[in-house]
Amino acid sequence: MLGYDFPVPPHSDRGNLITFEGLDGCGKSTQIERLAAVLIQQSVPVLVTREPGGTPTGEKIRQVLLDSSTHGLSPMAELALMFAARAQHISSVIQPALAEGRIVLCDRFTDSTEAYQGGGRKLGSDPVLALHRILCGDLQPSLTILMDSDATASVERARRRNRSRATPSGTPNDENRFEQENRAFFERVRNAYLVIAAREPHRVVVVDARGPAEATHQQIIQVVQRKLKLAANTT
Ligand SMILES: Nc1ncnc2c1ncn2[C@@H]1O[C@H](COP(=O)(O)OP(=O)(O)OP(=O)(O)O)[C@@H](O)[C@H]1O
Ligand SMILES: [Mg+2]
Repeated sequence: MLGYDFPVPPHSDRGNLITFEGLDGCGKSTQIERLAAVLIQQSVPVLVTREPGGTPTGEKIRQVLLDSSTHGLSPMAELALMFAARAQHISSVIQPALAEGRIVLCDRFTDSTEAYQGGGRKLGSDPVLALHRILCGDLQPSLTILMDSDATASVERARRRNRSRATPSGTPNDENRFEQENRAFFERVRNAYLVIAAREPHRVVVVDARGPAEATHQQIIQVVQRKLKLAANTT
């Protein structure tokens, strides 16, 4: 872990929003945890957060969205709930942290909505991008790491992880609603992600997440290091 050379950002009221994207089970949370540990070691001010969620209200919305006991949610209602959680998250967590000059590592953001609701649920990108402009002030990450992986292997990993997790009350932690979707759904999600990456190459960096976690970590370290050095040199 030592030996990485991250500059501490100069005092600034503009931090960096770095988002992590990819299919269920591709390793986003694993990699965010590892990256955060390295950044903290380097005294970089970091905030780790996630979507949907990240605020008390957002976590309640997360439960509605991810719990497999939620039945019959229309795709548009699902889209609206994702953005309700996001708008709250931006105003009460992300923007204040950026104003303090923090590096915000966010597990999923609007690209997830474009990929899952736009691609997976076939709503298309237009409503997602329009809502992002209206409800989120069009806030764009300075860097998005898209962890590309095989749909079947990733989702199976996520299912296994969810089966083995338990809540403090002893009941299984049910965040399985999306993982019940079929392979075609996740192929549409993956393709939608790749379309976003091709459309916005300056923001989105595709990282191969098929290998061991350490190999993915090394790729992410390099990408983030380059981005933060550039940011430090331009402020
Ligand atoms: N590179 C890897 N190779 C094998 N297993 C991995 C790798 N990275 C993570 N895992 C394991 O796969 C499972 C899913 O990883 P993780 O929870 O980080 O994925 P995620 O992208 O955050 O999933 P979700 O979208 O469902 O939150 C975990 O059990 C984790 O330990
Ligand atoms: Mg996760």
